Amino acid sequence: MVIALTGCRKDELMQQGGGAGSFVLDLPAWMPAPPVPADNPLTKASVALGKQLFFEPRLSRTGTLSCAGCHFTDRAFSDTVALSIGVAGQPGLRNSPTLANVAYHPALFRDGGVPTLELQVLAPIHDDLEMDHSIITAADDLREVEPYRSLSQQAYGRPLDPYVITRAIANYERTLISGWSRFDRYLYQGETTALTESEVRGWELFSGPVAGCTGCHGGFDLSDHSYRNVGQYSTYTDPGRARISLDPADEGKFKVPTLRNIALTAPYMHDGAMATLEDVVDHFASGGLSHPNKDPQMTPFTLSAQERGDLLAFLNALTDERSLDQVP
Ligand code: HEC
Ligand code: HEC
Repeated sequence: MVIALTGCRKDELMQQGGGAGSFVLDLPAWMPAPPVPADNPLTKASVALGKQLFFEPRLSRTGTLSCAGCHFTDRAFSDTVALSIGVAGQPGLRNSPTLANVAYHPALFRDGGVPTLELQVLAPIHDDLEMDHSIITAADDLREVEPYRSLSQQAYGRPLDPYVITRAIANYERTLISGWSRFDRYLYQGETTALTESEVRGWELFSGPVAGCTGCHGGFDLSDHSYRNVGQYSTYTDPGRARISLDPADEGKFKVPTLRNIALTAPYMHDGAMATLEDVVDHFASGGLSHPNKDPQMTPFTLSAQERGDLLAFLNALTDERSLDQVP
């Protein structure tokens, strides 16, 4: 039975062009592999096509804004401004998050409103505050253009269309792996000297009972990907998770962000309202403003000047020492 299924799957892959060569993710030994949907295997051709499309400004109405225009490579695929500017020159509604380890997210967007990376691709292309285009028109315009014509055939055995565009970009995003920070070497590879003494003290505070950061920023991605209200406001203009659930108890709850590469991804929070890591640490130490949905873990605590410095030093040690992009 198993053999029969495997055989089937392989034929199918060959048909799609997927048999042409699978893409082997370069993962640290300790890190779990991300889930990949059965109908969109990681192949060299699909990630190469996805990368090309990710940097393609012709996916926008004006031909001027690519995905990378709001998710900068050297900013761990986040933006430098609080609210990204779309093709019409208008700011969007939320801060552009890092795409590092996005393959591990159970749902996309700060409110978890989109279930898969494939579907997510449609949102920025069609959003009038972002790329303000149509994926159908974009596919029509690029179909006969190289390298799209040949890569699309190689990757999916068909001409470029919305099916191909969404799948290829999703696969490129799945290759953006963060697991090579000094903190990773310290914690997972037993390199006790990879962190300074101050950074180790910062990690102990971060994971200890007083600051309690790992209560939400736990696990290898430094996020449990749950939705929490951290008392940033006493009245939220952005409903957060409640936009999806329509449940008032979810108002002001946002997905716990990864803290990987946090030194590169300023400004912070769903609306980019906090400019520096100092601002964020001071916010958490204050316990936040009162709000009926505020998480019970948000209680005030006091840090000495040295402890505050240690915590900040730790956060600054979460930056990858190599490029997140491993696609040649
Ligand atoms: C105009 C700026 C802009 C452009 C262009 C843009 N994005 Fe984004 N991206 C954002 C913002 C802002 C968010 C957060 C939206 C939210 O949470 O509601 C986001 C969120 C995401 C997420 C979800 C991340 C998470 O943590 O849940 C993914 C994946 C993503 N973008 C991929 C892309 C891809 C692929 C493209 C190109 C097709 C693209 N983006 C184009 C601004 C942009
Ligand atoms: C109750 C859960 C919870 C706890 C505890 C918590 N955080 Fe967070 N943290 C969040 C959520 C949720 C956000 C995003 C809020 C938003 O988008 O508006 C966040 C955002 C952040 C950000 C900004 C990330 C970004 O990309 O914008 C940093 C930095 C951060 N937290 C650090 C810490 C530190 C340090 C601690 C411990 C002192 C801590 N957090 C404790 C839930 C928590």
